[in-house]
Amino acid sequence: MTVWREAVGTPTARVEGPAKVTGRAGYTYDRPVTDPAYAFPVQATIARGRVTSIDSAAAAGVEGVLAVVTHRDAARLADTGDAELAVLQSDEVGFRGQFVGVVVAETPQAARHAAGLVRVEYEQRAHDTELRADRPGLYAPEHVNEGFASDTDEGDAEAALEAAAVTVDRVYTTPMEFNNPMEPHASVAVWDPGERAPGGGFAESARLTLFDSTQGPHVVRSTLAQVFGLPPERVRVISPYVGGGFGSKGMPHAHNVLAALAARAVPGRPVKLALTRQQMFALAGHRTPTIQRVRLGADADGRLTAVAHEVVEHTSAIKEFAEQTAVGTRMMYAAPNRRTSHRLAALDVPVPSWMRAPGEAPGFFALEVAMDELAQACGLDPIELRARNDPEVDPESGRPWSGRHLVRCLREGAARFGWAERTAPGTRLVGRELVGLGVAASTYPYYRLPGSRAVVGYEGGGRYTVRIGAADIGTGAWTALTQIAADALGCRLRAVRVEIGDSDLPAASVAGGSSGTTSWGSAVVAACRAFRHVYGEQPPAGAEAGADMPDDPDAERFAMHSFGAQFAEVRVDADTGEVRVPRMLGVFSVGRVVNPRTARSQFIGGMTMGLSMALHERGVLDHRTGHVINHDLAEYHIATHADVVDVDAVWLDEEDVHAGPLGARGIGEIGIVGAAAAIANAVHNATGVRVRDLPITPDVLL
Ligand code: MOS
Repeated sequence: MTVWREAVGTPTARVEGPAKVTGRAGYTYDRPVTDPAYAFPVQATIARGRVTSIDSAAAAGVEGVLAVVTHRDAARLADTGDAELAVLQSDEVGFRGQFVGVVVAETPQAARHAAGLVRVEYEQRAHDTELRADRPGLYAPEHVNEGFASDTDEGDAEAALEAAAVTVDRVYTTPMEFNNPMEPHASVAVWDPGERAPGGGFAESARLTLFDSTQGPHVVRSTLAQVFGLPPERVRVISPYVGGGFGSKGMPHAHNVLAALAARAVPGRPVKLALTRQQMFALAGHRTPTIQRVRLGADADGRLTAVAHEVVEHTSAIKEFAEQTAVGTRMMYAAPNRRTSHRLAALDVPVPSWMRAPGEAPGFFALEVAMDELAQACGLDPIELRARNDPEVDPESGRPWSGRHLVRCLREGAARFGWAERTAPGTRLVGRELVGLGVAASTYPYYRLPGSRAVVGYEGGGRYTVRIGAADIGTGAWTALTQIAADALGCRLRAVRVEIGDSDLPAASVAGGSSGTTSWGSAVVAACRAFRHVYGEQPPAGAEAGADMPDDPDAERFAMHSFGAQFAEVRVDADTGEVRVPRMLGVFSVGRVVNPRTARSQFIGGMTMGLSMALHERGVLDHRTGHVINHDLAEYHIATHADVVDVDAVWLDEEDVHAGPLGARGIGEIGIVGAAAAIANAVHNATGVRVRDLPITPDVLL
């Protein structure tokens, strides 16, 4: 048997790249459908209360308007207990920007114009959108991000902190942040209405096809099937190309439901809906602001005796989402006494959700700046401090690591970055610029999500098809799966065509938690092996075999996490306080890298998002109105090309033999973790000013 092995490990260009750069890749809103109508939402202008009257006469009179739908006439949905998705089901308003209606028209312009003419009156109730650590009514959620305990307590952190030779006790804050993928959230809903249902509900025979920009077509399908009371096989979700998500397209949101409701109101017409950039700030999820108290206790040599990380964050009063901000701290350093907690404020704010490395991204800003403060207090190099506290086994579970190479990443990065040139804080002035270097550690768990299946077919003529309902949100997953399949089948890369992005394809887990390549990839390997086992090297045309993702027994026996070391150089203008970042370097340990080319993009993309988090991003809520006032890219600042000078990433050459058949641990999110801390620590090194609140703006440095 010829084994090519040309695929996994080679820097293959994206298989869908030519389609994307030539404009042939059909994104959701561009989807050609017959005789489309266009929807534009009406949003609540109060933060809490109820709708008392709606006057839609002027809107209905606009030429081309086909329907104005509000809670009074929207189709009734099943009660799934998810208030975010109970769209137009009552007169209640739970946050500013929530949908209170939708206009459907012959053109997007008519729909938008008419939506502005809908007059809504409200009965306002007092609202609260402000996160404060002393707010009454803070509560411990049952879980954070569903899977993790809210609080942990090992040993006696209070006593150990009391007795420690050196302590750090500080509060760090991060603001509300917004995902902002390049492609806005969009859905095109097409109903085949089926028989008329008694009572006006959805007929059993009705079918819904939703073209959608999503990280998980199967998740959208199963959720919408419940919401519309349909069996899942009567809902199909199609999403071959997705222009980014960063978690905001990981779960269905209200606009998916709104598009389908709007299409229900204009029988026989497909309906297109794309959120505007401004609407995304209320409707696509966001990262909660955090208030984090970190306390570290150490002996005189910098050996940690206690770590306490206590987080206050918000959720929406209408739906709980609790970010796992302090969870990463549980496994990071060797300290016999450890405490973590999460307290939630249920506020009258839009529904928060996943944003790249939910938990680790804000959590490691606080932890890793605190570690820098401890290094300073102990008079130790920050890399040496981390090396001294590198645990032999996972302090949380007691399990051995499948591969913990944090110290190697730190030392390798130090050598490459010129760490030895770092001077004492505030001592290096070049021209009118203060120069500083900073470092932070990074980690992200190895997740493999259940529920994926792949099917391999042989088309004849040496050509294979691999089918799996996965999503490539710009990560390179499509290419990685093609490489994985080619290796597993022992054929050339070009002999394999992978089909993804359709819920009619075999089940696949969501593109989230940096789990896609590992979860889907191991299903693909299993299916290819099953195919080879049945058909050998000369399959008949039409041969087909499938397999579910196999179990991962080592995930129960080992603590499996990726690690990284983030380095940053900053230059701070001594007169204006402006911070520039001329260099960043990340050194990562992620197991095997399937595609170095797309992997590098993930790492430097994550680091760039971390730079953006450090210096630019801050959603501003006006607490009088509950409105995110900087709800566009003119005022919600993100890093641009001019801000990104030299961001580089390298990785250790390794394979995690415990991480499934690929030996890979996932790479999509670790790049953002610790990046903001490295920059904040570099700012301290440059200026002597310790910044504990993001973003780092010039005013705090002057
Ligand atoms: Mo990622 S925030 O888990 O989609």
